[in-house]
Amino acid sequence: MASFVEAAAEIAHEAGSLLRHYFERRVAFEMKGDYDLVTEADRASEKLVVERLSKQFPLHGIVAEEGGGHDSPSEYRWYVDPLDGTTNFAHSYPVWNVTLGLEKAGELIAGVVFDPNRDELFTAERGAGAFLNGRRIHVSGAARVADSLLSTGFPNHNRATNPNIHFFHELAMSAHGVRRGGSAAIDLAYVAAGRLDGFWEIGLSPWDMAAGILLVEEAGGVCTDMRGTGHHLKSPHILADNGAIHNELVSLFGAIWLGRFPHAMPPVA
Ligand code: 2AM
Ligand code: CA
Repeated sequence: MASFVEAAAEIAHEAGSLLRHYFERRVAFEMKGDYDLVTEADRASEKLVVERLSKQFPLHGIVAEEGGGHDSPSEYRWYVDPLDGTTNFAHSYPVWNVTLGLEKAGELIAGVVFDPNRDELFTAERGAGAFLNGRRIHVSGAARVADSLLSTGFPNHNRATNPNIHFFHELAMSAHGVRRGGSAAIDLAYVAAGRLDGFWEIGLSPWDMAAGILLVEEAGGVCTDMRGTGHHLKSPHILADNGAIHNELVSLFGAIWLGRFPHAMPPVA
């Protein structure tokens, strides 16, 4: 299986260099929906990744965000986000990555997240651990939400109906802080590396999460949905954390889903 991670890492490095060239030139963006940005860089990176994967693993299926993948009867399927954090990228905000996750018969077995801005490569293989630039990583030891640094995100689609602002407010009152970096794969990688104690988000797509979920699990953390039940790539929301704060987060979220807020939102004036 090492060859899958090695191949994915090499492809992510190559795509990362390509993305850096576009980033330095400040590419123009187009809108996919009202607020969903896509750039020439997303497409060029996806073309590169899909070409390389198809050449090395011609029988595998590929699901890629910009639609360049192909289905296959194979039990192997790659999930590719050729540029995670496009909004950041398009605004020259240097928090974005390229990420590839591999599933075999429905189980995630390999994943990489490459951040070219920090030259950080996060890798994970089922049963073999999670690594940052080749060194083993583990989730944090924070035991309480009150001692935690958390992160969340707000995807672009359905933003008018996304209730996450309520969760954001409540956790901002309860934890050391809540970051909102704009790149789900980096958030998940940071939970794996113990830089964040937990991450949640509503409305992600499989390619945003595939590699990151395996990273968190292999680093000793836990991934469920925000209600604490089993997570899969089509789940409508995700909660990934160090395991120690999981029950407390699930029970706080449970109250928020019911409209019960320990801390009310402050009045505007
Ligand atoms: P993207 O840049 O690849 O689109 C922001 O919190 C996170 O949500 C990012 O990882 C971003 O990935 C993702 N995101 C943005 N728009 C999305 C959409 N329409 N569907 C799913 N995920 C989305
Ligand atoms: Ca993307």
